Amino acid sequence: MLVKVVNPRFLERRDKRDRFYQKRRRIGHHRAFAREMLEHLASRALKPGRLAPCPHMQNILGVVDTDLGAALLVEAVLDENGELATTLRDLVESGHLGPREQQALEAFLDWALTSNVLINDLSADNLAWHPDGHFVMIDGLGDRAGIPIRAVSPWFNRLYKRKKIRQLLEEIGMKEESGGSREAVAIALAIILALLGLLATQMELLLD
Ligand SMILES: Nc1ncnc2c1ncn2[C@@H]1O[C@H](COP(=O)(O)OP(=O)(O)OP(=O)(O)O)[C@@H](O)[C@H]1O
Ligand SMILES: [Mg+2]
Repeated sequence: MLVKVVNPRFLERRDKRDRFYQKRRRIGHHRAFAREMLEHLASRALKPGRLAPCPHMQNILGVVDTDLGAALLVEAVLDENGELATTLRDLVESGHLGPREQQALEAFLDWALTSNVLINDLSADNLAWHPDGHFVMIDGLGDRAGIPIRAVSPWFNRLYKRKKIRQLLEEIGMKEESGGSREAVAIALAIILALLGLLATQMELLLD
């Protein structure tokens, strides 16, 4: 198991930069944990009653108290020797991204794109290699945006994740050219559609 705390340096920086920050947001600096837990629940909500955790997300075991504040207790992904698993970045840098790992990466990206989860940081450091032969996302789930457009629009969520996947593949030196102006038009359209969706949801709530 791992005990993940909020980096105390992050808290200091936040306190200096934004004094009313803690008061403004109810969850405060714990929102990184809240974001991740929300995605775990969202991934299960599509299939109520499903017991097995998703193999592509680190398993969350709970919230515990530490001398550094509340912490997230998670299951560690370990390699064959019981050490912390290598990340996708380690594999790329050491030249160990073989056909098996590449196939597993494809399967992971397929899940990332087609599942309903929101992803904000799909960097190579956030993917751990499970010795069973699959990648596990250990950080970077959830939505950091102020207006939750991706949460209300699956289409926009997918569009955003496509961009993140393209950036990841570029980062690790695996193909993909950029989409250019067509993508910009698609994003503008998506924002309009998502805002309409949001408006419709709000109307529905008001009518309720
Ligand atoms: N569940 C896990 N199993 C194995 N190793 C992990 C796990 N979670 C984290 N790690 C290791 O710890 C490193 C840092 O973890 P994590 O990504 O959660 O924090 P961080 O990168 O410091 O946070 P942030 O990306 O928000 O700055 C990872 O790159 C990975 O090597
Ligand atoms: Mg990380």
